[in-house]
Amino acid sequence: MTGTGLLEEHAEHEAAVEDLEIELLLEAAYRHSGYDFRDYTRATVARRLNALANTLGVPNISSLIPMLLHDEPLLPQLVSALSVTVTELFRDPNIYRELRQSVLPTLSTYAFFKIWHAGCATGEEAYSMAILLEEAGLYDRATIFGTDMNSASLAKAADGIYGLATMRDGQSNFVRSGGRGSFANYYHARYKAAQLSESLSRNMEFFVHNLVNGPALENMNLIMCRNVLMYFNRDLKDRVLEMFLDSLCHRGYLCLGAAETIDFSSLADRFEVVSAEHRLYRKL
Ligand SMILES: C[S@@+](CC[C@H](N)C(=O)[O-])C[C@H]1O[C@@H](n2cnc3c(N)ncnc32)[C@H](O)[C@@H]1O
Repeated sequence: MTGTGLLEEHAEHEAAVEDLEIELLLEAAYRHSGYDFRDYTRATVARRLNALANTLGVPNISSLIPMLLHDEPLLPQLVSALSVTVTELFRDPNIYRELRQSVLPTLSTYAFFKIWHAGCATGEEAYSMAILLEEAGLYDRATIFGTDMNSASLAKAADGIYGLATMRDGQSNFVRSGGRGSFANYYHARYKAAQLSESLSRNMEFFVHNLVNGPALENMNLIMCRNVLMYFNRDLKDRVLEMFLDSLCHRGYLCLGAAETIDFSSLADRFEVVSAEHRLYRKL
């Protein structure tokens, strides 16, 4: 065999070993703690577990297994490592224009309605929705649920305290989303942080919910789940979409945002497309 052939064979062997290490670690996490990352896309999981092993100064992913089983703090670290919590106030502002135009008129026909932000990270998306509804005079009829598997993120969400950079970006997104009022009315700036107005939390609840094995919620009029399903393999995506169908009320809306699609899902024909651009769907 040539030198290149030997190198290729070695690289293939290393990749197969790493695959096995990941499988064993994810199985250990599931059986030890109930956290189930087994159907997350492998490339992302591999990258993030390698980064965690590096940070902890261990030589490989399998070294994390005994740590996970015997060292309590590793579980939250693992959950954090596998959970990308990047988010923004009024992220992808045009989606809020679309919601204002296509969804709010329907919601306004209900005396009460429920909105679920699944995978809400640190809560900015839920507060953005509260502001959107407040501007439309609909917030008193709404209940907003913000859920995530990451309890540390949810604690930040419940505090509603964000850095000034987050607020600056939020302000410019708010304007681009077609926000009409003054964004400054919705927070109090304090030194290097800003606290969102308590009145925005009045119809909002945050709680831990894992999309992999959590129950359906009941009678949701709108489910927002943006930048989450992209971490799941096709089988898990379908299971979550099925759970969303169970959670939606008759003709409820599902918004997946610009980065996702249901086009390749076996459940695509159970939704009507409201906006292909914003991946906004309606239950058939
Ligand atoms: C990139 S953030 C998206 C935040 C927000 N939806 C947005 O688009 O700005 C992805 C969030 O999904 C959460 N997540 C990942 N897997 C999850 C699961 N199985 N159940 C619930 N949340 C999950 C992560 O913890 C993270 O907070």
